[in-house]
Amino acid sequence: MVIKNATYVISSPSYKNCPPADMPEYAFIGRSNVGKSSLINLITNRQNLAKTSATPGKTQLINHFLIESGSNKQGRLQWYLVDLPGYGYAKKAKTERKSWSKMIEDYLLHRENLVNLFVLIDSRHKPQRIDLEFLSQLYEWEMPFTLVFTKADKEKPGVVQRNVDAFLEELKASTQFLPQVIVTSSAKKSGKEELLELIARMNES
Ligand code: GTP
Ligand code: MG
Repeated sequence: MVIKNATYVISSPSYKNCPPADMPEYAFIGRSNVGKSSLINLITNRQNLAKTSATPGKTQLINHFLIESGSNKQGRLQWYLVDLPGYGYAKKAKTERKSWSKMIEDYLLHRENLVNLFVLIDSRHKPQRIDLEFLSQLYEWEMPFTLVFTKADKEKPGVVQRNVDAFLEELKASTQFLPQVIVTSSAKKSGKEELLELIARMNES
């Protein structure tokens, strides 16, 4: 699948302000600073479409991007990519964390065109409780998701693989569920084709 066009649409404080739910939608979520906005820029081939920052907590609202993709087979297709604010930012006040939970929970439970959630996990770390808890919640809500490991350029491939395997092991222990997994690096531009092919297949079904 080739992305022909990617444009910023709107930043919303609630699902109620989001654009009409009339196209398939895919959202990126994960810990603050895990690389959500960078990965959106990678797959859309745009350096600054989604705002990135070395300081955690950059993305604060629900950001919609309208994507036009095409392939020889299917002609052109429009869909939304959504950049969400991250969780687990230690410096945030409790009230702020609560409002994040409310915003995200409402969005996930009410956005009827949301096809799949891409949950980003930092491949440098051993399984983190906050990620596993978030995934258990998604599993309970029966929300379809894919795991996307990020920043694979920062560790040796063996370490990345060990962390991925350990994560899946822990997830399976708590949910008996093994999701699809993609390993990426925005710095090395890897994992992009896999991610786009997955979205293309979901768009077809
Ligand atoms: P919030 O919006 O704050 O939740 O963060 P985010 O998940 O959108 O992360 P963002 O894309 O802003 O990236 C955070 C930092 O990590 C930036 O300094 C990026 O340059 C860096 N980064 C993101 N992806 C990669 C990667 O694949 N490799 C490396 N080496 N750095 C990365
Ligand atoms: Mg961001």
